[in-house]
Amino acid sequence: MDLQNKTAIVTGGPGAMMPFGSMVSWVALPRGAVLAQDRAQDRAKIASGKVLYQQWCVSCHGAGPGHPGTQALDFRYKGALPAALEDRTNLTPDFVKVVVRNGISVMPFFRKTEISDSELAEIGAYLSRSSLK
Ligand code: HEC
Repeated sequence: MDLQNKTAIVTGGPGAMMPFGSMVSWVALPRGAVLAQDRAQDRAKIASGKVLYQQWCVSCHGAGPGHPGTQALDFRYKGALPAALEDRTNLTPDFVKVVVRNGISVMPFFRKTEISDSELAEIGAYLSRSSLK
């Protein structure tokens, strides 16, 4: 879509209601810059998710022996999936959220006062980072 068409949509459609500042930046930012901004946001989310994961999860889900979560998942998947959560490539933020809010077997659930929704989304982004790249 060329700039003229974009401008026509912004001024003619619901975009006409947008505050002047956001209208200008939307028209002015080339698509590549918008995508780069998204990727930078993803990277920031993943980085803070990693820190939170180390704080809340790694005691049970770290690699190697002595981690009850890793041991339980090793027993469950028997090598079909990696036992350490950080090595998995099939986790989604939604699945991580359901498990963390409800708990599973001996894994306790976590309250929003412990891990907020946005923090949990960051942990989910970290554990599903392979699908974001
Ligand atoms: C007290 C130990 C413990 C802590 C802390 C813990 N977990 Fe777990 N987690 C487990 C165990 C044990 C299982 C396997 C339960 C089972 O046998 O199904 C598990 C399972 C899971 C699963 C399911 C994996 C699958 O394939 O079914 C996810 C996802 C998960 N944990 C995420 C997390 C996240 C994220 C955190 C940190 C916020 C966390 N866990 C903290 C012990 C823990």
